[in-house]
Amino acid sequence: MKGFRERLSSLSSERQSRIVLALDISNPNTDKLRRDVKDLLTRTAESIVALKINYHLILPFSKKEITEIITLAHSHNLEVIADLKLNDIAPTNINVTSFLWEVGFDAVIANPIAGFSGGLDVVLKDAHLNGKGVIVLVYMSNSGATETYGLTVLSHGKESRLYEEFLRRALSWGADGVVVGGTQLDVLRAVSEIVADRADIFSPGIGVQGGSAKEVVEAGANYLIVGRSVVGAADPPRAATEIRSDSWIVQQKGTRSLP
Ligand code: XMP
Repeated sequence: MKGFRERLSSLSSERQSRIVLALDISNPNTDKLRRDVKDLLTRTAESIVALKINYHLILPFSKKEITEIITLAHSHNLEVIADLKLNDIAPTNINVTSFLWEVGFDAVIANPIAGFSGGLDVVLKDAHLNGKGVIVLVYMSNSGATETYGLTVLSHGKESRLYEEFLRRALSWGADGVVVGGTQLDVLRAVSEIVADRADIFSPGIGVQGGSAKEVVEAGANYLIVGRSVVGAADPPRAATEIRSDSWIVQQKGTRSLP
């Protein structure tokens, strides 16, 4: 069975795309919302490699409706990522991921703050047994992220940055991917040098939050998480095609170790 990273990478080469579409739309009329989701998904599918679904859709929709959307995404060969920033004790986490796998999600985004033992350990093990992926937050894209992810911390008597500790853990846990905001190019370059090809780098914050698709890929991102620049565009398929071609460039990955 091919794992999440392998499936995503094959499709990325085939479609020459790095776009993970964040389907962040909302509407109190859930019938209309369902139609809009399916329409956006169908019209942009050829330019993207995955869908990222979060609370915008998971909260209003029923299990059946979510399954329908994921089935439609799979019919276009897309991977589907649940952006829940999972952050709890193991039994709660596993309860959430069991639901996610049952409705067809292929990967989940998790917060490393919960730690491994009794937190994310079972999530990683269970995901990999089921051919699913786990993507760990390393540095978020919002401006306030410097207040936490950028903190200097003392680890085993040595100073480092909190995001470096998250990265160290994500790699040692065998995470499939890490999230680093596309608004933090220096961090992205540093992370990319360390990660090399041990995990994929997913970068949100493109367009509306200020990140440039091309610069973010040059800095080392494998995949771009894009929401409003596509879903809020006057012509979403065209916006997706433009970002796809801007970001389809070859990268050099480094081999630096963590201090
Ligand atoms: P926009 O509209 O800014 O949407 O393109 C970005 C999408 O990505 C999510 N987001 C993040 N997800 N780590 C994540 O796991 C982050 O640092 C991060 N920043 C933004 C956001 O919820 C939206 O779906």
